[in-house]
Amino acid sequence: MPPPERASEHPTDFVGGHRQITSGCAALVVAAGSGERLGAGRPKAFVALAGRPLLAWSLEAIAAAAVPRAVVAVPPGHGAAAEEALAGAAGSFALGLAVVEGGATRSQSVRNALAAAGDMEAVVVHDAARPLATPELFTRTLAALADHDAAIAAARVTDTIKEAGPDCVVTRTHDRSRLWAIQTPQAFRAESLRRALDVPAAVLAAATDDAWLVERAGGSVRVVEAPASNIKVTTLHDLRTAESALG
Ligand code: CTP
Ligand code: MG
Repeated sequence: MPPPERASEHPTDFVGGHRQITSGCAALVVAAGSGERLGAGRPKAFVALAGRPLLAWSLEAIAAAAVPRAVVAVPPGHGAAAEEALAGAAGSFALGLAVVEGGATRSQSVRNALAAAGDMEAVVVHDAARPLATPELFTRTLAALADHDAAIAAARVTDTIKEAGPDCVVTRTHDRSRLWAIQTPQAFRAESLRRALDVPAAVLAAATDDAWLVERAGGSVRVVEAPASNIKVTTLHDLRTAESALG
C-alpha cells in the first residue's frame, strides 16, 4: 500500500456537489444508526461524550493515524446536523471529510460510504460507536493487510464460551484459545470489500460485520489483536464507561 497522502488543507469536503476521493486509503465511518438502545432521543453518533460528539473521537484517531480522508455515513435527514457537528470538530484535526446518507442496515451504510470513497486501494471501516479506538490500532490493521483481503481488530475472549440448546442445556464448550471477539477498525482491500458487498439486501442485513461478507466470498481475513477496552457504546452504561476511560 502506498503511504497515505498529505492531509487536505481544507479539512471538510462534503459529497453532494463537492470533491470525490480519488486515490490511496480512506476511512469509512458508519454513524447512521439510530441509537435505540442508548435511548438519547437522537442518533448515537451525535450524543456528547466528554464534551464532543461521539463521532468526533473516532475521526480524531483516524486523523492521528495519518489516514488522509474519511467518508461518514449518517442517518437520512441528518446531513446538515452532521456537517455542523463535523465543521466544529474538523478544525481540531487534519482530515478530509465527506458525509453520505447511510442505509437501512449497517452493511448498506458501509456500501454507501464505499461508493462515495471513489477509487481507493484500501479502506478501513469503523463504527462511530467505538470512540476509544486508538490511532495505533488503525495503523496496525492497515499494515496487516499486506497478505490478506481483510485485517480486523479483535480481542482475545477471556470468558469460557459454551453453547446451549433452546432448553438451556449445554451442548458444547469451545476452545477459548481460538476465539476472538470482533471489533472495528476493519481494514480491507477496497476491491475485496466492494465484491463482498455486492450481494442481495437480505445477505447484507444478516451481516453483523463486513469481514464475514469477505469470508463468505472466499477472501482471507486475519485478526489483529486489540484491547478489550475498545468498547462499542451501546447502552448508557457503556457511555459512562467510555467517559471514565477518557477522563
Ligand atoms: N450503523 C449504520 N447504519 C445502520 C445501522 C448502524 O451506520 N443502518 C452504525 C451505527 O451508527 C454504529 C455501528 O453501525 O456506529 C454499530 O451499530 P450499533 O452499535 O447497533 O448502533 P445503532 O444501530 O445506532 O444502535 P441501536 O442498535 O441501539 O439502535
Ligand atoms: Mg444497531
